[in-house]
Amino acid sequence: MATAHTARKILVTSALPYANGSIHLGHLVEYIQTDIWVRFQKMQGHTVHYVCADDTHGTPIMLRAEKEGITPEALIADVHKQHSADFNEFLVGFDHYYSTNAPENKALSQSIYLALKGAGKIASKVIEQFYDPLKNMFLPDRFIKGECPKCHAKDQYGDSCEVCGATYNPTELINAYSAVSGAAPVRKETEHYFFKLSECADFLKEWTRSGTLQGEAANKMSEWFESGLNDWDISRDAPYFGFEIPDAPGKYFYVWLDAPIGYMASFKKLCADTGLDFDEYWAQDAKTELYHFIGKDILYFHALFWPATLEYSGYRKPTKIFAHGFLTVNGEKMSKSRGTFITARSYLEHIKNPEYLRYYYAAKLNSSMEDIDLSLDDFVARVNSDLVGKYINIASRTAGFINKQFDGQLRPSSNNPVVAELKSSAAMIAEAFDSREYGKALREIMRLADSANGFVAEKAPWVMAKQADQTQALQEVCSDALELFRLLTLYLKPVLPKLAGEVEQFLNIESLSWTSVTEELTAGHRIQSYQHLITRIDPKWILDMTEANKENLTASPTVAPVKASVAPAETSGMEISIDDFTKVDLRIAKIIHAEHVEGAEKLLRLSLDIGEAKPRQVFAGIKSAYDPDQLIGRLTLMVANLAPRKMKFGLSEGMVLAASDESGGPFILSPDAGAQLGMRVK
Ligand code: MSP
Ligand code: ZN
Repeated sequence: MATAHTARKILVTSALPYANGSIHLGHLVEYIQTDIWVRFQKMQGHTVHYVCADDTHGTPIMLRAEKEGITPEALIADVHKQHSADFNEFLVGFDHYYSTNAPENKALSQSIYLALKGAGKIASKVIEQFYDPLKNMFLPDRFIKGECPKCHAKDQYGDSCEVCGATYNPTELINAYSAVSGAAPVRKETEHYFFKLSECADFLKEWTRSGTLQGEAANKMSEWFESGLNDWDISRDAPYFGFEIPDAPGKYFYVWLDAPIGYMASFKKLCADTGLDFDEYWAQDAKTELYHFIGKDILYFHALFWPATLEYSGYRKPTKIFAHGFLTVNGEKMSKSRGTFITARSYLEHIKNPEYLRYYYAAKLNSSMEDIDLSLDDFVARVNSDLVGKYINIASRTAGFINKQFDGQLRPSSNNPVVAELKSSAAMIAEAFDSREYGKALREIMRLADSANGFVAEKAPWVMAKQADQTQALQEVCSDALELFRLLTLYLKPVLPKLAGEVEQFLNIESLSWTSVTEELTAGHRIQSYQHLITRIDPKWILDMTEANKENLTASPTVAPVKASVAPAETSGMEISIDDFTKVDLRIAKIIHAEHVEGAEKLLRLSLDIGEAKPRQVFAGIKSAYDPDQLIGRLTLMVANLAPRKMKFGLSEGMVLAASDESGGPFILSPDAGAQLGMRVK
């Protein structure tokens, strides 16, 4: 049972976020889910270590640093600061937050690789890969684009088509080009190293049966076993930002080889800093527990590659892997155009209090891999009604009497049945937290809050306060209400650690742990004066937040939107306000590819780089005036937030600006020298 009082030793991880982007509300599902579980286990008196790190290696990070004109080390150092600050403010209490680009990780990755090699699990094979002859590098699939072999849509990624949904190999693309340089990739032979996963099926089947996975995850595993396990390509050629493979100059570990080893490395550094014993948690015969929290998208890596890697290099395997679903906002995938792609930082700027989100996610979370939805209206309603209306209400309606009329002193009644009712739910709530059924735990806690409010409403201390003969009853009722408030605070503490800390101060009590259920506020105990603990969410904050995320797609969120007052220009059409104008996201774009569109009289198909992960495809009616070849490489202006349009020839994701009238054109616009792609026009 969850509340068994033998102290356990537990190591917990969340997946390592990539160091090439900001933490967003999707990521936070995972870090908040894990943090609640860790805080709960710590409140149980168990020894828990919670480690994580930035996942820093790979081609996208290398190319992004290059684009920004800095070293990858400088890029990941900067991101590490930002990620750490975000996690800190969301009260995600890592015991250590490290980086995969660390000496411990290099040493562990190399020794694990050598152990796998020693166990006969590494093979090398010459394979053919796409190579960018301009950039002199091999191209990962997502950096190759071309025409879909099935539906012939242009500018599709190397692995799948966004128009018809087909999946394929990059070698099947028609007219493939490099998303890095625009050059046509050539195929080139290269020697790669493989981890022989195909030989690990028996071990993995056995391991899957041992109850390590959720039902849904075990089913996924069965599908993978049925379709057969392929050997895993674990090497990449230089240039690559990562760790070099021992005795293989110019060959680097693929980022996914050293990323999970980052769990070990982060813990290893924690051991060095605090004197913990690494082997107690990682040796093959370790008696301690190891849990990985991950999103369902990375199950393959954690349930196949990772246990096999550990098994054949002589380490312990995870006790359990907990996979969660994906976040949707208002029922849809997070979207930049709808303003629902919200970073942790932007949430903090507009909503400020991270515990609202922690509460809402907890209310939605369960132990399954189902997606969870953040409905912004429901978020406001739920937080305001549960936290402010139900929970805090109990203290705000009763503490004042104790402070003013009894000098802060308590006098609880004996045997209040509502107090007994709240205490009797402790085991059930603990069981729900332990099994990651947070929604269930919070439903029970709110049911108890209803009971507590019912008690206060029935006794009506505000009426008693007007009756001279009710003084003692008033003190007892308010004292009991604060005892109920104490118990609710204890139950909510894994979710709302900061608020719980403030309540502990106000109640003038020691830090609450799960055993505090059996204690109570005693007669004569003095509380501090009650301060306002929490504010209602104003729906306007939400509107401002989604607006800001719509307007400011890539600009730094600390930059205020441009506000200026100008006289309306003489225009041929309707007058618009400056606010209307600032809604248009105008960007400097680089034309990285241009070509004729078969069957189209006026159109050219352009690939425009505005500094996003992937170039935009735009169909422009400029064929009469331009040769595609003369356009490639030049800068122009584009409207970047135009709703994408499905055209006969494919999706158009923006618009380039060109001037024309009877006398000529179209003439596409160019910025002055010095302008960089991605710059905003304002
Ligand atoms: N770097 C890898 C993990 C390596 S672990 C050895 C990675 N990074 S990530 O930044 O893309 O994601 C980090 C975690 O956040 C993953 O578990 C991922 O599933 C989770 N989420 C990222 N976006 C998410 C949502 N929109 N919703 C819920 N979880 C999401 O994968
Ligand atoms: Zn297609």
